[in-house]
Amino acid sequence: MSNDQRPIAVFDSGLGGLTVVRALRRRLPGESVIYFGDTARVPYGPKSAEAVTRFTREIFQFLLHFDPKCIVVACNTASALAVPELVGEFAVPVIGTVEPGAAAAAKASEGGLVAILATEATIASNQYRNAINRYNPRIPVVQKACPLFVPIVEEGREERNPLVRMAVAEYLEAVRRLRPAVVVLGCTHYPMLRGPIAEYLGESVVLVDTAEATSEAVEQLLHDSSSLSNDSNRGRLLCYVSDNTQRFASLSTRFLGHTITDVVRICPEEFATLHQPAPTPRRLRVSV
Ligand code: DGL
Repeated sequence: MSNDQRPIAVFDSGLGGLTVVRALRRRLPGESVIYFGDTARVPYGPKSAEAVTRFTREIFQFLLHFDPKCIVVACNTASALAVPELVGEFAVPVIGTVEPGAAAAAKASEGGLVAILATEATIASNQYRNAINRYNPRIPVVQKACPLFVPIVEEGREERNPLVRMAVAEYLEAVRRLRPAVVVLGCTHYPMLRGPIAEYLGESVVLVDTAEATSEAVEQLLHDSSSLSNDSNRGRLLCYVSDNTQRFASLSTRFLGHTITDVVRICPEEFATLHQPAPTPRRLRVSV
């Protein structure tokens, strides 16, 4: 039986990727996770493919200092815009959200309409649509950018808050009229609005949580490559962010379900000054 103690590296534009960390830690509690949230440059959703690919390449280089067993791109926007470009460039396995999310949607749709909800850049890339149609070209797909969902979630609005309800209705009214069979929550933050979205669209709609689908794909990858940790203790979670550690720590509770008290700040400008091996955990004061 394998016992690979190397960490899983997880990257997001900010703190939303903690929805993927939460799903990973539920599924693979013995695995250690190194998380990088690019809080200085969030949001990626309105940015160009060129900028998002450049940021992602820099962050991959930083994460490689930790000798990860794989890199998980939790950010849907980076998964759509940068992963297709970068996947062959690095020796480590890379898992984004698009392939697992599209596979889950294609499976659930049974030929019915799939609606993709995501950031503007993810929608413009057509990556989810193309991936679903690679599974089955006859599945009809509609797409809807919902940019206000990200700040609404980050503000911590309660599900019953009028602003949440207004935003859900504003973005999803036309989608609801089309009676989709499946709706893909194609952004790190959207699983946090699962309740109001499900209520608005009605019970018959299958919601695909891309954080969940991605964690399942990671488990499969580690299983197939005999890279699972068989540690019976809970794996460590070490978090780095590029700005505002306090905000990250206080908002993380809502995404993760528990508190991270200390988080280490590292600017992208500092990446180039790092040398192998990675900064040791002594630099980190993270509690989980
Ligand atoms: N993490 C991004 C995503 O999943 C949402 C936040 C952003 O725009 O950077 O697409």
